[in-house]
Amino acid sequence: MIFRAPAKIILFGEHAVVYNQPAIAVPVTSLTAQATISSASTGDGLYIDAKDLNMLFPISLNADVMDNALALTAQKVLSNLNIKPPNVIIQVTSNIPMASGLGSGAAVSTAIARAIIHACKLEISLADLNALIYDIEKFYHGTPSGVDNTVIVYETPVYFIRNHPIQRLKLNTPIILLIGDTGKASLTKVAVGDVRTLYDRDPVRVQMIFEKIGDVVRNANTALQVGDIINLGRLMDENHNCLQQLTVSSPELDYLVHTARQAGALGAKLSGGGRGGNMIALVTPERAQNVKSALLEAGATNVYQTEIFP
Ligand code: MEV
Repeated sequence: MIFRAPAKIILFGEHAVVYNQPAIAVPVTSLTAQATISSASTGDGLYIDAKDLNMLFPISLNADVMDNALALTAQKVLSNLNIKPPNVIIQVTSNIPMASGLGSGAAVSTAIARAIIHACKLEISLADLNALIYDIEKFYHGTPSGVDNTVIVYETPVYFIRNHPIQRLKLNTPIILLIGDTGKASLTKVAVGDVRTLYDRDPVRVQMIFEKIGDVVRNANTALQVGDIINLGRLMDENHNCLQQLTVSSPELDYLVHTARQAGALGAKLSGGGRGGNMIALVTPERAQNVKSALLEAGATNVYQTEIFP
């Protein structure tokens, strides 16, 4: 049996969402992490087989697995749910680029958790699974807002506010996004920590940027509800500008964002933690190919296309 979890992109509101502003995020189902229960019973506990990482290793509740993220994730699932390791091999694969703002960590954790829970013949609600993955995210990222795990576990577009019940996003019209990868890995934890330092140094100015992002997100929510994609594109540009002020953009991201706009995107911004990773561009069906080619020519290592439907 295969258990999957999708990648995610943040359309609006990254970073400010950590400080209780809203964010809009959507799953990207063409990129997934997968956990496959490949053997019904090994007889001697739980093994995680990560071919991409060339690893097969056993998981116990007590072993010291601090140096291996997948083992640690599996161990946290076992200890949080207070269950014994099942006698199975779980194969983990993922085509979500790592450290690139697409939620690969939360997706891998979700897929592994789903496989372990199934192997233990347990059932868990989406809300409880989300709480479990959030716990694991906290371990890796320090102070995550919870937006990544929420959109990945529920696999639905969300209008998200930290510590509030999940709100599914309402759209009036389909939208097409291109996701352009700078090819530069960047750890969300570092960018989030740097924004914290900026905030501690100049709370009044940085709070104003967060509030400005909050306004952009609320306006984007309205634009999505009425299908005003021209305004939506303009709001993406505004959001990118705020993220530049938070120092989380990079020359590579700025160049791809600029290239997308020049090639006819309605708007473009970095997506996720920033400093590297991915940017997104809002395009019409007529302009999608042109913008995609321009991004690749400008050095994007990959361009994925995703469509969000009402
Ligand atoms: C990372 O995908 C989004 C950030 O806002 C961090 C978070 O929300 O935890 C940068």
